[in-house]
Amino acid sequence: MSIDHPSFGRIDSNRVIIFDTTLRDGEQSPGFSMNITEKLRMAHALAELGVDVIEAGFPVASPGDFDSVKQIAEQVRGPVICGLARTGGREDIQRAGEAIRGAERSRIHNFISTSPLHMKYKLRMEPETVLDLITRGNQAARQFTDDVEWSAEDGSRTEPDFLCRCVEAAIKAGATTINIPDTVGYATPEDMVRIFRMLLERVPGADGVILSAHNHNDLGLAVANTVASVQAGVRQIECTINGIGERAGNAALEEIVMALRTRQDVMPFSNNIRTTDLLKLSRMLATITGFDVQPNKAIVGRNAFAHESGIHQDGMLKNAQTYEIMTPESVGWTKSSLVLGKHSGRAAFRDKLAALGYGDLGENQVQDAFVRFKHLADHKKVVYDEDLVALVDDEQRDHARIRFIGLDISGGSRRPSRAELELEIDGETRSADVTGTGPVDAAFNAVRSLFPHEATLVLFSVGAVTEGTDAQARTTVRLEENGKMVDGQGADTDTIVSAVRAYVHALNKLLVKRARTEPEALTA
Ligand code: KIV
Ligand code: ZN
Repeated sequence: MSIDHPSFGRIDSNRVIIFDTTLRDGEQSPGFSMNITEKLRMAHALAELGVDVIEAGFPVASPGDFDSVKQIAEQVRGPVICGLARTGGREDIQRAGEAIRGAERSRIHNFISTSPLHMKYKLRMEPETVLDLITRGNQAARQFTDDVEWSAEDGSRTEPDFLCRCVEAAIKAGATTINIPDTVGYATPEDMVRIFRMLLERVPGADGVILSAHNHNDLGLAVANTVASVQAGVRQIECTINGIGERAGNAALEEIVMALRTRQDVMPFSNNIRTTDLLKLSRMLATITGFDVQPNKAIVGRNAFAHESGIHQDGMLKNAQTYEIMTPESVGWTKSSLVLGKHSGRAAFRDKLAALGYGDLGENQVQDAFVRFKHLADHKKVVYDEDLVALVDDEQRDHARIRFIGLDISGGSRRPSRAELELEIDGETRSADVTGTGPVDAAFNAVRSLFPHEATLVLFSVGAVTEGTDAQARTTVRLEENGKMVDGQGADTDTIVSAVRAYVHALNKLLVKRARTEPEALTA
């Protein structure tokens, strides 16, 4: 059976809509905030990837959130652009409606909690009040767009009878997509199958709307729950690149898409994702947020296609299918192992960047990265792919309020450490000459003297990008200010320079975060 949808027209019964919430649920987790330029970059790349819906943000949350949803709605073509709103929030639906106005196709996604626990303690509302708000909220959203999604927050822990009544009210009030989130990551695949089958059996009109799954990963079951939901009749999946999101994150887009593609034998469903872009999106997000995925992460982790043991390597040489269920190329890994050295020219450099997923860099960015690459190649015999990724990522982080210019460090076991640091702050170059108990302390004191702030350093870690003593150091710095946490990253062959770059990156992210205020749970 097919469904008539306001944004997608007639949808075939085996078509799965990919709803990406990297810029909303993903962005609201600690350390993952993005500025408008970064969000726009991600949104354009998500559109190229082929997602059907981009949840661009929560417009009522702050003027910055409103602006980024508005700009994405005005500039990004292809996917439906969606703004989040609380069902009973005073201004939420109005603000969401205004923010998405410029979109080619737009959606308002409104949500309210329906579980006994959330209604009693968070909302302090009676179930009948919640039901009434669902009717009013969805009707209000339909004044702005025909494409309205409603979510039962904490839906997986909601009483079945009440969930059916809520869904029925939402459909009657005009919702065209019904999303049942496992907000706290508590459900099992069987729970999700039971819930969606129940809705399809018991709620009038449920087979005429799109049912949607939104699973959190607290028990590591988000992808399994999503896949099970699709098998139970869900035709929209909400997911994020690299699985980022509240707490343990959301279901990872790349994992779900590849599960559906690889297991067509048991899940004959289609979607519009260009899978060869998956690695590029993963890396772009890691660059922007400063969070790498773990090496063993499915699909996009460094080891996802690495075969280490002799037995596996032997099997692979005889027939790749012995240990490979999908090809690395199908998700964007390139076979090319061309490494660059100091005699490599700009053309080879540009080709390499394109192969690594950085084909969209502007002329100036390529030029800046090329200058840094030449400098790196003078220090390091061979520049590997990982070196280039670290270098370009670092270069892209530089376009912010505070920029690293240069650092000289002296010290050792016989004399105090001293840092001479130069930063550009809001376009003005400033320098400091400061001492400390060690080189990191001196360098960080210098940052604090040039840009005074109250944030505390809560995490400092250093790793090597590649092997060898000439390897680049990759540093992560976590800062905390008034309960807000941000992570910054930096890379350089000099460990202290890498640390200062990471500190500066974290400060820039903190400045973005300071501008945001979190909305209350709900004010009806
Ligand atoms: O996890 C959740 O319940 C949500 C809703 C706002 C959809 O993110
Ligand atoms: Zn969520």
